[in-house]
Amino acid sequence: MRLAGAAIAARGRFALALTGGTTPHAMYERLAMRYRDQVPWQAIECFWGDERHVPPTHADSNFRAAHVAMLGRVPVQPERIHRIPAERPKADDAAAEYEETLRRVFALDAGEIPAFDLVLLGMGPDAHVASLFPGNAALRERDRLVVAPWVEKLQSYRITMTLPVLNAGKVVMFLISGSSKADAVHAVLEGPERGDELPAQLIRPAGELVWLIDREAAAQLSRGVRL
Ligand code: 6PG
Repeated sequence: MRLAGAAIAARGRFALALTGGTTPHAMYERLAMRYRDQVPWQAIECFWGDERHVPPTHADSNFRAAHVAMLGRVPVQPERIHRIPAERPKADDAAAEYEETLRRVFALDAGEIPAFDLVLLGMGPDAHVASLFPGNAALRERDRLVVAPWVEKLQSYRITMTLPVLNAGKVVMFLISGSSKADAVHAVLEGPERGDELPAQLIRPAGELVWLIDREAAAQLSRGVRL
């Protein structure tokens, strides 16, 4: 809330990039229910860091998940909810359209990168973040803001913000839970640098990087830190 207050005071809005996946579900519900009255919903400019190549009504849709858990229950301004148009037949068209939305909403000049006030990220057991997967060419994209990589292991396209956008976040916050992530958490935080294989290692924002890791996911961390 402190972060949101400062952003709104400075820029009249709180630019937020939501993560997909299942981990944030409980947090989204708590924000909508328990903390409903503490969140400046009207001032939130909401985007998604990535999306599956499915319509917004699909069970796999990150937009749908956040809408059901949170956005559909709170007084956000509909014109400030910017979902990725992942229903487009061609994923690349969805990516190009979303990039234009980012440029418009952030009033970007050519070559400028949008700076979100808060970027939420999950991490897969393979250390992928957003839809930037190990070994994928999308990891090396430095010019476009949004791309639509083919993800071989999923046999599907995804639409995702690129590393320059994720790393431009003023605060980038990982939400990681469960024993299935313990190997990746250890490799990313305590292993050698190998970002192409461990994309989460490539998240190095100029701003603040926050890791929210539960006990199970942190089980292999050797720093003696117990969460
Ligand atoms: C997605 C996400 C992805 C997710 C991780 C973790 O579209 O799935 O953006 O990057 O955050 O895969 O997913 P879980 O939270 O379900 O473990």
